[in-house]
Amino acid sequence: MPKPIYITTPIYYVNDRPHIGHAYTTIVADLLIRYHRLSNRDAYFVTGTDEHGSKVAEAAEAAGLSEIAFCDQTVQTFKTAWDNLSLSYDCFIRTTSDRHKQSVQKILEKLHTAKTDSGEEVIYSDFYEGLYCTGCEKFITEKELVDGQCPHHKKEPERLKEKNYFFRLSAYLPKIKELIETDQMQILPEERKREVLGLIGQELGDFSLSRERVKWGIPLPFDQDQSAYVWVDALSNYITAAGYADDPEAFEKWWTKGEVIHLMAKDILKFHCLYWPAMLLAADLKLPETMFLHGFFTVDGEKMSKSLGNQIDPNDMVATYGADATRYLLLTQFPLGVDGDVQAKRFATQYNSDLANDLGNLVSRVIKMVVVNCDGKIPSPFRGIEGLDELMAQTEELAEHSYSHIKHFRVTNAIGDVIALVRATNKFFNDRAPWKLGKEGKTDELGGILYACCEVIRVVSILLYPVMPNKMKEIRAILSLDDSTLNLQSAQTFFDLKPGAAVSFDQPVFPRIKEEKASRGEAGNVASGDEDNLLDISEFGKVELRVAEVLQAERVEGADRLLKLQIDIGIEKRQVIAGVAEHYPPDKIRGMKVVVVANLKPATIRGVESRGMLLAAKKGKKLTLVTIADDLPAGAKIS
Ligand code: MSP
Repeated sequence: MPKPIYITTPIYYVNDRPHIGHAYTTIVADLLIRYHRLSNRDAYFVTGTDEHGSKVAEAAEAAGLSEIAFCDQTVQTFKTAWDNLSLSYDCFIRTTSDRHKQSVQKILEKLHTAKTDSGEEVIYSDFYEGLYCTGCEKFITEKELVDGQCPHHKKEPERLKEKNYFFRLSAYLPKIKELIETDQMQILPEERKREVLGLIGQELGDFSLSRERVKWGIPLPFDQDQSAYVWVDALSNYITAAGYADDPEAFEKWWTKGEVIHLMAKDILKFHCLYWPAMLLAADLKLPETMFLHGFFTVDGEKMSKSLGNQIDPNDMVATYGADATRYLLLTQFPLGVDGDVQAKRFATQYNSDLANDLGNLVSRVIKMVVVNCDGKIPSPFRGIEGLDELMAQTEELAEHSYSHIKHFRVTNAIGDVIALVRATNKFFNDRAPWKLGKEGKTDELGGILYACCEVIRVVSILLYPVMPNKMKEIRAILSLDDSTLNLQSAQTFFDLKPGAAVSFDQPVFPRIKEEKASRGEAGNVASGDEDNLLDISEFGKVELRVAEVLQAERVEGADRLLKLQIDIGIEKRQVIAGVAEHYPPDKIRGMKVVVVANLKPATIRGVESRGMLLAAKKGKKLTLVTIADDLPAGAKIS
């Protein structure tokens, strides 16, 4: 039996509102936990809020509230946001809870009496004088200042002198180094591991464990005039939630014998990868198995911040795309671990392409055909259909591959492979053209194609369940499937659907969303002075326009508006799907010299690959392709 798994997110500061940065980590944790649950692994998911410290006290005062009343309010905004995103945490930990206070005091007592290997006290008191930034809630060095100010908060720090208790970090660094180097405590990705090891190589002082001035905090059990330093308080949440102070059995199961994974972004590396393991070693507690520090993202090229007003509220995304698509969109922006830039204007395009066109359309077209041709019942499987064996093989191996990606934190690969199967199935459906078979009386083959597609949809409903739990249940309901087969085991078996089971189709699972910008463009009313729509010359320069000659043209089965074109763009021949069939029948377009955008990412339209886009002018119902009148050869660049 694999060990129980215990996954945590950072606990978020309550003086901020939840934004998509917080949502991202929490959705990733939810995805991982749901995947492990699908494999029947015992799994526990912890998130929560970090509520102490002078920043919170100041924010409460500014709001005219007591500290706890202020916290109660903002904690609710996190809980509501997480409910709106269908996050399935098992424990929401608040640092102001009695449970947590007990736990912090317990570990502090333990540290207070602990000795290092060389017999020194782990905790000692001393005077500390230094520059303190209340924004960061930490002492900062002269070296870190920019123009005399904290670079993060653009505020001059205060000079403070106070009695503090210190934690003898230096005594634990050699052991931590060894544990990290040997991966007994895995720091991922590799780049972050190097960063921590680099930090250990520098002269790191001991850290102070308490604050005299900060009143909004947990008092030290051995000196009531001092409050636990917020990071000591906050990090301890991970053991509180496992039951350190109040549930020894649970603590043994989840922490001591479990596999502990801390998930966060790279901004809080030092606290998690050095301070926390040192505290655990000194308190004689087991260390986490893995820390995964993902990338930090910007929004439209800017750091997300309250003062810039560019934070994206996950609730707004849920209002536009729904909980599931929001989860999907955030998870697929870039690989976990790398930094990236989120561009909200791309969300709608991606939603329409991946979810409405690829996945939603597969479900709609397959189920509608089952309703019309098979009396609304799952047909019988039928072997010997061209392409079926390949599709089955791709489907059967997917569960294992996806789960392996998940175990290695390759979130985008796990999702991307499922979407690739959806696209392959759309292609299989198009290539086999089942709509023709009914008329030809080949009902067994027709049923076999539809059965295979339903099977893929069933497997997809399991493998994308951790990403989009509600929508996948909706799809499963369409196929009359309940939760008893919602597990990885059944995603590995093909031919699992029972022929004869009822299917029903009501409305598209992912209705298309209006791409605001696109529709404004079509109406021709993009104001040229609208800053939002102005392109930088370098952005326009990225678009590669070329003259292309249409070599062949044919209609796409089942799609009145689409033509499948083979074109010559000088450097190579390509296939492009163009929505111009109503204006340019195949005979008319063949031989024409048109203008094509040559450096677009390939797209799959109706299961057919398209590599490029033709330029056309459109007004109302009229559409005219941009053509090249003189005898420029195919491939000529247009600039
Ligand atoms: N309270 C501390 C954490 C204590 S954990 C023992 C804290 N809170 S925070 O509210 O600032 O949250 C930081 C975390 O939020 C990051 O580590 C990351 O998980 C998430 N993110 C916040 N902004 C983010 C981005 N712009 N991009 C990606 N993740 C981000 O630090």
